[in-house]
Amino acid sequence: MTLRLNLRLHSNIIRKRIFVLLVLIVLGLILFLSIKNDPSNCFLDSVWKDGKTLQEVSENSKLKLHSTSKNVFFHETSCNVNGVIKLNARQSCAIESAALMNPDHNIYVLFTSQVGFRNTTNLRLIDALSSYPNIHFNFLNLTKYAQNTPLENWIKNGELFRSNFVNSHTSDVLRYLSLWKYGGTYLDLDIVMQKPLNTQNPNNYAGAESAKFVAVGIINLEGETGHEIADLCVKDLLENFNGIEWGKFYIYNIEYKRKDRASKFLKI
Ligand SMILES: *[C@@H]1O[C@H](CO)[C@@H](O)[C@H](O)[C@H]1NC(C)=O
Ligand SMILES: *[C@@H]1O[C@H](CO)[C@@H](O)[C@H](O)[C@H]1NC(C)=O
Repeated sequence: MTLRLNLRLHSNIIRKRIFVLLVLIVLGLILFLSIKNDPSNCFLDSVWKDGKTLQEVSENSKLKLHSTSKNVFFHETSCNVNGVIKLNARQSCAIESAALMNPDHNIYVLFTSQVGFRNTTNLRLIDALSSYPNIHFNFLNLTKYAQNTPLENWIKNGELFRSNFVNSHTSDVLRYLSLWKYGGTYLDLDIVMQKPLNTQNPNNYAGAESAKFVAVGIINLEGETGHEIADLCVKDLLENFNGIEWGKFYIYNIEYKRKDRASKFLKI
């Protein structure tokens, strides 16, 4: 009798332990998921206090809202936790070619991570690029950059940072935001220019990827029409942004929506 009671007690204890274990696992999972959803990331965290982060782009007085379109934008959106400004050879080549071919343009290389000249040994590529008077390196504070744009609240609510492809999506978003804010030309960091940008005609175009497809690695939007298109792109992004989809090309949607006027800005 006592033995049976003991056994029952024992199995009750085991059941309780299993139950507690399950509860702990569920709590652990919830905690894990909530940490994953925490919109903190390498861009906004770890603010360097040494005053060596590059000048914030909004403090660069050369760059004026909707002013001249002789702007070329490159966005470097990888995570850089050691805070040292860095570009690889191919990226440097792309930037140099844009500067060399377009001496009358200002080339903005905007880093979303808080980088600066913290360790100046081994910066040969950066030093070489710095010798061009029209190349400007700046830090881009996403929160600040989106202020007074249609993306202000969207950036604040952190949806971008919960994306599965934060760095790639940040680059997708910033190309439209830069063109919305300033107008000019966006180039991917692997585009090497062999001749100058055509500034004769009012432009507005996106680079062709093939005879059929328009890509988003080269986009020029300027003037009133350009701003109007950039506005459609930014708003389309707000409506259709999807953090689990890689490489969504918002300009396609715009092309579709504006079939009537597409030829105006899509020179294939
Ligand atoms: C600076 O960079 C060099 C070369 O990459 C490295 O060997 C060195 O440890 C770095 N110094 C500091 C203080 O991070
Ligand atoms: C970015 O700008 C926001 C708004 O001005 C500011 O609160 C934040 O501290 C800045 N972050 C960094 C990393 O500079």
